[in-house]
Amino acid sequence: MKIETFELERLQSIWENRVDINLTESGLHPYTLRELLSEAEIDQMLDLRLGYGWTNGEPRLRQAISEHYSSTTPEEILVTSGSAEANFLAVWTLLEPGDEIAVMLPNYMQIWGLARSLGIEARGFRLREDLDWAPDLDELRSIVSKRTRLVVVCNPNNPTGAVLSNDSMEQILEIASSVGATVYADEVYRGVELDGQEGPSFRDLDSSAIVAAGLSKALAHPGLRIGWLAGPADFIDAAWHRNDYTTITTSVISEFVATTILRPDRRQEILQRNREMLNRNLVILLDWIRQRPDQFRLVPPKAGGMCFLRYAANVNSTELATRLRNEKSLLVLPGDVYGMDHYLRLGIGERSDYLKRGLELLGDGFDELEECARA
Ligand SMILES: Cc1ncc(COP(=O)(O)O)c(C=O)c1O
Repeated sequence: MKIETFELERLQSIWENRVDINLTESGLHPYTLRELLSEAEIDQMLDLRLGYGWTNGEPRLRQAISEHYSSTTPEEILVTSGSAEANFLAVWTLLEPGDEIAVMLPNYMQIWGLARSLGIEARGFRLREDLDWAPDLDELRSIVSKRTRLVVVCNPNNPTGAVLSNDSMEQILEIASSVGATVYADEVYRGVELDGQEGPSFRDLDSSAIVAAGLSKALAHPGLRIGWLAGPADFIDAAWHRNDYTTITTSVISEFVATTILRPDRRQEILQRNREMLNRNLVILLDWIRQRPDQFRLVPPKAGGMCFLRYAANVNSTELATRLRNEKSLLVLPGDVYGMDHYLRLGIGERSDYLKRGLELLGDGFDELEECARA
């Protein structure tokens, strides 16, 4: 089987630990275990027996996850190795070669690339910058057909940080249902809305919707590799069967820590810390852009740890990102990985000093480009 290279991840995998400043992270500055856990919890962790545990997820963890949705039971949850595995299992479980899916674009491009590699036809519907990155739902209506199995969205969105209105969510559900398709929503950024208003999950609006989420982004613990699927019990059971062929299970240590993170008070504390970081960093970013009005344009993100910046310079985004990496040791994601040249994705969930250093390097890079163009 031939696969399409997942350019977005490949770039990060190769370079993220080799540069001085990495602004490709879309989540929030991660915690250490010492920052997170109390002494009593650390003791409990040291006494864990390192067996396989429950391969679909430890019952208390599934219970804790299910409580974050309005009408979802623990039997409707499968714990996975990151939300990346959740997305993989969903595609593998639900789709056959020849099926069609409608995918919000831009998007974390995993499902797009994976589905196409499996012989599934992926059709895109766009978020439009002129609508503050709201979706073009007429375009969605025009691309669905009786062969559409899934309508795939990422909400809050990677890379724009846009959040769907309740009305758009309802319309997406209605359009999917009009052709007998299921809505599949990747909601890993839900919870770090900058205005503090956590939006509904698609699962809260429709019990046939399937949702992927996890601890890597809004909850700032990517190193635990804990994600999950929430969906109808028969789908969850089928995905669990396939999980026997992928990673079997996650780690009992990660599941223990995940259960402490999902305690309502702890979860709120983490989300509050993250929203404060993002709001502080957004001010820094917007100030920086204000000083460079001819170089950049930005629809400010409403959630998530990133923004999608439009630049005016007449240079290809991959070429630009390569120059910044080689000449400034600064890593950013080129819009090309989303099929959208002349944009850069910048992570804004890091510590403020780190972000400021990255923006300085980025500004220098663009100033030098302009000098070259003038010379
Ligand atoms: C929208 C989205 N989904 C899934 C993932 C995979 O994350 P993880 O497997 O760490 O949960 C990412 C990573 O960037 C993402 O942005």
